[in-house]
Amino acid sequence: SNRVILGPLVGAIDQGTSSTRFLVFNAKTAELLSHHQVEIKQKFPKEGWVEQDPKEILRSVYECVEKTCEKLTQLSIDITNIKAIGVSNQRETTVVWDKTTGEPLYNAIVWLDLRTQSTVERLLKRIPGKNKNFFKNRTGLPLSTYFSAVKIRWLLDNVEEIRHAVSEGRAMFGTVDSWIIWSLTGAKNGGVHCTDVTNASRTMLFNIHTLEWDTELCQFFDIPMELLPKVRSSSEIYGLMKSGALTGVPISGCLGDQSAALVGQMCFQDGQAKNTYGTGCFLLCNTGSKPVLSDHGLLTTVAYKLGRDKPACYALEGSVAIAGAVVRWLRDNLGIVKTTEEVEKLAAEVGTSYGCYFVPAFSGLYAPYWEPSARGIICGLTQFTNRNHIAFAALEAVCFQTREILDAMNQDYGIPLGQLQVDGGMTSNKILMQLQADILCIPVVKPSMPETTALGAAMAAGAAEGVGVWSLNPGDLTAVTCERFEPQINPEESEFRYARWKKAVMKSMGWES
Ligand code: G3P
Repeated sequence: SNRVILGPLVGAIDQGTSSTRFLVFNAKTAELLSHHQVEIKQKFPKEGWVEQDPKEILRSVYECVEKTCEKLTQLSIDITNIKAIGVSNQRETTVVWDKTTGEPLYNAIVWLDLRTQSTVERLLKRIPGKNKNFFKNRTGLPLSTYFSAVKIRWLLDNVEEIRHAVSEGRAMFGTVDSWIIWSLTGAKNGGVHCTDVTNASRTMLFNIHTLEWDTELCQFFDIPMELLPKVRSSSEIYGLMKSGALTGVPISGCLGDQSAALVGQMCFQDGQAKNTYGTGCFLLCNTGSKPVLSDHGLLTTVAYKLGRDKPACYALEGSVAIAGAVVRWLRDNLGIVKTTEEVEKLAAEVGTSYGCYFVPAFSGLYAPYWEPSARGIICGLTQFTNRNHIAFAALEAVCFQTREILDAMNQDYGIPLGQLQVDGGMTSNKILMQLQADILCIPVVKPSMPETTALGAAMAAGAAEGVGVWSLNPGDLTAVTCERFEPQINPEESEFRYARWKKAVMKSMGWES
């Protein structure tokens, strides 16, 4: 009787490195109606190794869906109005499972994991001039521990059970999107084994021009093509939910989380860019229908393809491995704070690092260096340095790393960015946002709806053919700014600190070689 009438709704699963969320939006207004979030455990079984339990990921997805539906019902919102579900996910993280039992054959190897350093070195020896950019024309990527192909190679080399399952034709590979979609659409009872072009472009087995798996790359990495999911666009019906409160609802959107944020930030034009501060930090700039290759250490990646018959759009990407993770490290490893929010307070109390520089190269350095042998350092310490300065230096590190990729982006793209659109968990930290504007010397702008990653996945799902509840007309699509941070220090000071940072980065390299 007192039910709220809203029209069509769209749900989004956002499976990130640190947590899983399910969010439900009003398809007409993009308003966020309800959500639920569950933290995901990360396992560090050996130095440099990072794993997650694929079953725990799946349980967290189900829990978030069910809890959100309960919350909606409590708000008198009819969940039968949910017309579609989109998936956005941590990219590159590699799962191999048995399609006959539905069981994972090993833990998920998380994108940050460094165990493949020797795999990479071995593969490099087979490449002319040991050139790590040898496959960049085709894949947009350098050979690195980061991407899925080397992780699959490691699994085939080291896990007997996987080799056995492969020889019997029982093994399936997928990034987290594939694992989730296969499971939600029925798993061993008819689950759909697919991925989208954005996730495929992070495996290093995918040709970003033809948008197909690349036979030669599969040969080079010696990965049987039967393991690979079918590649689909980012917006089409893949299958239907097989169980739970949303049984029968189509899953019709799929984007790697960084692509999803680009869409959610409405960066549909050439030259529009966003930076997302999550576990890592990823700056993507839309380059339109032509892939632009970087000369300055950036990646070329598929940004989105919003429909089977729509063209693919590409992006230049600067990837930083450690952003939010450094704050978590201060809490969990150093224990200088009890909650991650306290870091902002500590930093604010001093307002300076007092000459202390912190390079959090925990997983080597990604863009623009691609140096797996780098390791973290804290330098410039004096008798005066305390935990406040270290907290400040940790936040500043996130900003300096962004500055490095923005510089590279400006050089590759030719047209310097006039401002930076930001999103992600860390953007609620005002000190960080002000520091970022100071260090970039350009304004930093935040959208009014911070859940851009989920919004992007919901938009893709709602706009899919056969769903059609979300309009992607350019006129309806503009991000609304809510907060703006202007640079407040003078550029000379900014440059001075940035030069010091670069010196610190040089000191972080070469530890493992
Ligand atoms: O490439 C890894 C990226 O997709 C992970 O994103 O937000 O979990 O740090 P996030």
